[in-house]
Amino acid sequence: MPMPRAESVRAVLEADGHTVVHRLSGQRHAIELLQDIGRFVPQYTGTVEHEVVHRPGNDGRAYSQSRNTIRAHTEAPGWDPSPRHLALYCHRQARCGGGHTDLLDGRLLEKLLGPAEHALLTEPRLAFPGPGAGTVTVPMLYEEANGRPVLRFSYNLLTAADYDAALDAAPDPELLPLGRAGAALARRVGELFDQYRTRILVPDGCLLIWDNQRMLHARSAYEDAERHLTRYWIAA
Ligand SMILES: [Fe+2]
Repeated sequence: MPMPRAESVRAVLEADGHTVVHRLSGQRHAIELLQDIGRFVPQYTGTVEHEVVHRPGNDGRAYSQSRNTIRAHTEAPGWDPSPRHLALYCHRQARCGGGHTDLLDGRLLEKLLGPAEHALLTEPRLAFPGPGAGTVTVPMLYEEANGRPVLRFSYNLLTAADYDAALDAAPDPELLPLGRAGAALARRVGELFDQYRTRILVPDGCLLIWDNQRMLHARSAYEDAERHLTRYWIAA
């Protein structure tokens, strides 16, 4: 079997918005492949690698280092630009039946939404909190000058005004970025996401890559404390 090449991985990403890369000889190989696709971007804690493992103390939040469900979002919508690609290298997948990475193509979402819902996605500008005190204030979906759509979305931000919302968060609707209408849109997107998502359990030793400016992602709850993936953010 041929070794995976950045050129063919890029072609699949362009066509499908995501790909699972098999036949890697380990994490080092995954890193070399990703370096051929783009440039690593420092993540929330300033490092280019983020370990997606369960760490005690996060159990009340929808956070990567909890074992809770994380609803549909794009990564780091308050970054300018947001990471073009996201990648998860799987050291050991959950064996409990949970821990899926779920994806939905924004191009499909656009077709599924009604006109008023679509307008809410493309018209009002929304302040996405970013690194430090910065924000990016843009519509959730817009086209760049070259016509390429750029999607930003956070179920948690629209329903709880927080990316890593507490599971029991119930904020005053007045305090939500787009009020009740935004929260209703998030719930509708959440329903469509659950109905049309692609469910992926990245096999051990494999690498999932997706276009974070095109695809929504989510994570299903899991129990297996041995689950371990490493996350990368990649600029175009
Ligand atoms: Fe995420």
